[in-house]
Amino acid sequence: MGIEVVVEGLTKSFGTQKIWQDVSLTLPAGEVSVMLGPSGTGKTVFLKSLIGLLKPDRGRVLINGVDMAGGKERDIFETRKLFGLMFQDGALFGSMTLFDNVAFPLREHTRKKESEIRRIVLERMETVGLAGAEGKLPGEISGGMRKRAGLARALVLDPQIILIDEPDSGLDPVRTALLSQLLIDLNAEIDATMLIVTHNLDIAATVPDNMGMLYLRRLVTFGPREVLLTSEEPVVAQFLNGRRQGPIGMTEEKDSDALAREAANGSAALPLPPIAPQLEPSPGLPRRQAAERRRQRVLAMLDSLPPAARAAIEKTYADGAAPATVGATAPTRTLPPLPTRRTGR
Ligand SMILES: Nc1ncnc2c1ncn2[C@@H]1O[C@H](COP(=O)(O)OP(=O)(O)OP(=O)(O)O)[C@@H](O)[C@H]1O
Ligand SMILES: [Mg+2]
Repeated sequence: MGIEVVVEGLTKSFGTQKIWQDVSLTLPAGEVSVMLGPSGTGKTVFLKSLIGLLKPDRGRVLINGVDMAGGKERDIFETRKLFGLMFQDGALFGSMTLFDNVAFPLREHTRKKESEIRRIVLERMETVGLAGAEGKLPGEISGGMRKRAGLARALVLDPQIILIDEPDSGLDPVRTALLSQLLIDLNAEIDATMLIVTHNLDIAATVPDNMGMLYLRRLVTFGPREVLLTSEEPVVAQFLNGRRQGPIGMTEEKDSDALAREAANGSAALPLPPIAPQLEPSPGLPRRQAAERRRQRVLAMLDSLPPAARAAIEKTYADGAAPATVGATAPTRTLPPLPTRRTGR
């Protein structure tokens, strides 16, 4: 089962450049969360801080009682084995075949026999729709295939916490939709705690249980998806609508003159798009164990939420309340593979 990740007062700078400060949030066990934010706001730095690859200036990242930000190196090293990390750029070794790339963490971190490694690698490559491509080099495949190879590699150690940095960049809309489903299916199958960094509004709207946003060196908000999706913060509305009008400019922050002009034109206030339903696991897969935990958690915090968020959550669970009512089904081992060949549409 997934593990809760508790972030308390995390602050990070490089030299004099403050990246973000006082970030506090909890990734609930087994739930899927998305972190949004304009380019350069430190989302990748945040992921790397969770896993202990970057050291924040202040604050704690608690996983099973281990502080990934300031604990003993030995504990951090052990706890890091619970993670699967898919880097933004795929980060595959160019001179190794896909098979060897995906096998790498198993050879590095376990003493498994080569036959066992082979079984796991082939299974995970099938999961992400790369069966048959094991012998290819990263330079010989498309960007989307490289992404999926990176995902397969993140999965071989049976991670309980999965961090995924921009899974969609460089993918076409159909692949992005398939990937969204794959992420939900994965969550249903392994109940891992997942944090996805993305700019993709379709993924943000349909995949996560929780959403947050980094902006101007702080965490604007983090909580149940309905809270962000009904937020009245102008920066959130601008981002969710993908509009030019709003506080975010090309260099992150617009000057006050530009904002005043927009306000005068009446273009700053944007309605939020309607809330799309969250994806369900594909037929034949077990239901997401986190769904019922999430329902109880979110309903218990209703009174503390803004009215719009409360109404949206009530609607989520009134509309069939699918996650709560579907009975447990027999677990199936493998996910339906993504098609590997382009269908030429
Ligand atoms: N190792 C490092 N040393 C110094 N500065 C760094 C380092 N890593 C990141 N930065 C700086 O931190 C800031 C945030 O970078 P980061 O890559 O986390 O942004 P991001 O939100 O992931 O952006 P994008 O959406 O474009 O991927 C940038 O200004 C970057 O230059
Ligand atoms: Mg990044």
